[in-house]
Amino acid sequence: MTLTAKSVARVSLVSTLVLAAAGAALLSASPASGAASTLGAAAQQSGRYFGTAVAANKLSDSTYTGILNREFDMVTAENEMKMDATEPNQGQFSYGNADRIVNQARNQGKRVRGHALAWHSQQPGWMQNMSGTALRNAMLNHVTQVASYYRGKIYAWDVVNEAFADGSSGGRRDSNLQRTGNDWIEAAFRAARAADPGAKLCYNDYNTDNWSHAKTQGVYRMVQDFKSRGVPIDCVGFQAHFNSGNPVPSNYHTTLQNFAALGVDVQITELDIEGSGSTQAQQYQGVTQACLAVARCTGITVWGIRDTDSWRASGTPLLFDGNGNKKAAYTSVLNVLNNGTGTTPPTTTTTTSNPGGGGCTATYSEGEKWNDRFNGLVTVSGTDNWIVTVTVSSPQRIIATWNTSASWESANVMTARPNGSGNTFGFTIMHGGNWNWPSVSCRVA
Ligand code: XIL
Repeated sequence: MTLTAKSVARVSLVSTLVLAAAGAALLSASPASGAASTLGAAAQQSGRYFGTAVAANKLSDSTYTGILNREFDMVTAENEMKMDATEPNQGQFSYGNADRIVNQARNQGKRVRGHALAWHSQQPGWMQNMSGTALRNAMLNHVTQVASYYRGKIYAWDVVNEAFADGSSGGRRDSNLQRTGNDWIEAAFRAARAADPGAKLCYNDYNTDNWSHAKTQGVYRMVQDFKSRGVPIDCVGFQAHFNSGNPVPSNYHTTLQNFAALGVDVQITELDIEGSGSTQAQQYQGVTQACLAVARCTGITVWGIRDTDSWRASGTPLLFDGNGNKKAAYTSVLNVLNNGTGTTPPTTTTTTSNPGGGGCTATYSEGEKWNDRFNGLVTVSGTDNWIVTVTVSSPQRIIATWNTSASWESANVMTARPNGSGNTFGFTIMHGGNWNWPSVSCRVA
């Protein structure tokens, strides 16, 4: 069997930048695709939104409101729509602070994410002491009342928040609501659908970012079950509170993609990443790229405006500093949003002919980047029966693969074959300071 590679292209970072500059020059000639100067406008170019959490008591701060009005096109009430805020006494509803946020947003042409109808945390005192049927009915009444009050004004509701346990169980979190019966979540979703048929209904949680974590798998199985039984669910929210102990996983886009493949939208709902400078900026870039790489990732919300507004202020996890100045992380997010797809157009394409007729083409595209790693994607066309060789250059190492069955010819040369997941596969490269893209070549098996 003699198969000859016709061409193998290796593209360096320098030529990537040249390509990007050439692309930008072309784009600026076309008025329809000029770069946007705010997060919301930049996200809208790909049909997405960019939102923030808002606190009602900060709406009188003109620096805060100035950034809010300028940059964001989606708003979440940070605390004002939670159960303790909206039903402080049983059967007595209170919407003053939530309304201030909703009205301010709608007056400015922004949409609103509702957060959250049912949750084990931030329950009013009267509810914390309830159990059994009384609690189940009180919860359902709360969902119905609040969702009905805001009917027609909410883009998406976090119907249930944080119902899964951390750790290795993959099961539900113990709570008073969980003890009313395992069907409490679907009951809440059905009540929300009846109350506001126009709102997208989301399940929202944290520590569900890493595809290999048990909690992620547990939520995935629930959504799969809901879809198969017709329980009304439209979206899954990923809170995305990251720090050095809980960094952005390199398989993030896989997680988003796999949930989306269940037939739900995915949204990044409470993003913050502790850190500073270029390290923080790169992580923000990776998260934004992961969303843009998934068609059904409809938007990103950051959990506050300035670092000083954050619930984790000491970790300086947001896009604006305490004075309201744009941070490096802001610029990296804006640049990715302006890039539209989050992936650079295909560049390293190698075709290898097959003596038996036919052939195949392997196309490399950039995935997310972190300070120490980057992801690459390869899409094969021309055959379902391919063998792709991926060659990295020293000191790079491929540390993970997905959607392929991989073997190794040497430390630098990986052979990838189909594993039934389709014709796109990916991998993570520890770059060791070498940002060059790998070379790829394809042959028919
Ligand atoms: C946080 C708020 O930011 C704080 O102001 C409040 O004291 C506690 O709740 N997951 C969620 C959010 O779903 O509602 C939480 O918000 C952060 C974690």
